[in-house]
Formats: sequence, C-alpha cells, structure tokens
Amino acid sequence: MTNRHRTAANHVLSDSDWLDLHFEACRPEYEAMLASAGFQRGWSVLDAGCGNGAYVPLIQQYVGPTGRVVALDFDVVNADLVSRVTRVPAAVGSIRDLPFASRQFDGLWCANVAQFLSDADFPTCLQEFLRVVVPGGGVVVKDVDMTATRFYPGDPFLLSHLSEVSFRMKGAPPETRGSLRGRELRRWLEAAGFEDVVQRTHVIERWAPLSHMESEFMAQWLSYLAEIAIERGVCPEDELAWRDMAADGGRPFVSRPDFYVCEVQVVAKGTAP
Ligand SMILES: C[S@@+](CC[C@H](N)C(=O)[O-])C[C@H]1O[C@@H](n2cnc3c(N)ncnc32)[C@H](O)[C@@H]1O
Repeated sequence: MTNRHRTAANHVLSDSDWLDLHFEACRPEYEAMLASAGFQRGWSVLDAGCGNGAYVPLIQQYVGPTGRVVALDFDVVNADLVSRVTRVPAAVGSIRDLPFASRQFDGLWCANVAQFLSDADFPTCLQEFLRVVVPGGGVVVKDVDMTATRFYPGDPFLLSHLSEVSFRMKGAPPETRGSLRGRELRRWLEAAGFEDVVQRTHVIERWAPLSHMESEFMAQWLSYLAEIAIERGVCPEDELAWRDMAADGGRPFVSRPDFYVCEVQVVAKGTAP
C-alpha cells in the first residue's frame, strides 16, 4: 500500500509537505475558490480538516479583526502545526463528530476532507456541519473529481480506468469513492437539508513549461497515481503506460514541451435553515 505523504492518522496525500506543494501549485485557483465562499467580516468560521493551515490566513482576511477562525483536523501533527504557525485554536477531531457546541459558527470551510469519507459517513458529517453553524450560516465543501484528471499526452482513459478499478476493488479505502463524489456535492447538501445550494466546478489547467513548483507537484502526483494504478491491478496496457509516464519520478514526462495537465475541483455552498 502506498505511503506517499500519509499522516499518522492514516490519510494519504495529507502531510504538510504535500499540502504546501499542492496549494502553491494551484494557489490562484484555490484562492478564487475560497473567495467564492462568501465569508464576511466579523464572522466566526470553522476550517474543518485544516491540514497544514494554508487557508487559515486567507479566511482571516475575509473575516477581519472582528471575526474569528477556528481550525480542526483529525491528524494531531497537522493540528499542532496550525496552532503554532497561525495562532488560531486548532482542535483534533473528526468532521463526523465535531467537538464543538451547536450554533457556534457563521461559516464553515471543508476543503478536500469529505472526500476521505464513505457514502455512509458523509451524511453524518453534513448533519454535524448543520449542527455547528447558526441558522443562515454558510457551509462550503470542496472536493476533487478524479475522473476529470488528464495528463497529456497520456492515454485519455487512464484516469477513468484507474478510478473504476479502485472503485470496484474489494476493501477499497473510502477516498476511492470520495474522490468521485465531487460533482454530486450539490445533491448531497440538498438531501441533508441545506438551502440555496449552489455548486461550481473549477478546472485547473497547466501547460508546459511548468514552474519549478508546478512540475515538482505534478511529477509527485503522477508518481503516486502510477503507484496505486499498478498496486490496484489496472490492465497490462495501462500498467505499461503508467510506468512509462512515471519513469524517473515522472520528471521527464512533466517536462515535455507538449505536456498538459488538468485537475478538477468542485465547490458546493449551502445555507443552514
Ligand atoms: C488533502 S488534506 C486537505 C487539507 C486542507 N483542507 C487543504 O485543503 O489544504 C486532508 C486533511 O483532512 C484531514 N482529515 C481526513 N479525514 C478527516 C476527518 N474525518 N476529520 C477531520 N479531518 C480529517 C487530514 O488529516 C488532512 O489534514
């Protein structure tokens, strides 16, 4: 089983080094996604699944000095880092069972965390979000949609084949399903009882030549995907293609003059009744 950037709490691609790399490689789009959350001055906002806290200073800018940001993460290393670096209170806990009293927050931001939950656990998490925000409060969930990822000039079906093999695998980790739920978020929020739910799909695209940060991130991401594709038993043609793309840590592939990559993130926003 791949251990790439796994936290002590067992979530893959979730340690601070990886989160920094991913955030910096996608910063303009990630900042735009947060801007769409509608957090207002004076609000109290929970960053649920804060990771290494990349969004905390940005949320602070929206809520201003009269507002308040509180963070939470399942991983004690990430939570400690956030409280040390950003000085906001960072609790250790799960989005399935938030360690906060009801109606504490005006807003809630949950970026690439719910994708680690199974379909059975996600509704519980959404009820927790409804419980901790005030009526009229805004809850924003951002998750990936892996099927829309492309690495050009790779075979366009590599990611859909990998997603399908992972989804059908016995004992698959919950993120194999969670990483396909992005474009369903609006419907899940509506079913949970949120009002005025809206959803926007954001396409993040990078074309060669990449910056150093972007190529480092893309090479590592490609290597991780190749590792799980081989581990999960994609067909022999795909295995060859993944091995080829990930040769030498993926760096030659992402350095090709015709390289193109696309990542899709979905942001859904709802109001608590
Ligand atoms: C991919 S990272 C995203 C971090 C951050 N929100 C960001 O976008 O940079 C996922 C984070 O969710 C945390 N996490 C996973 N499952 C969780 C859960 N059930 N409750 C709270 N945090 C969780 C992990 O520890 C990790 O820090």
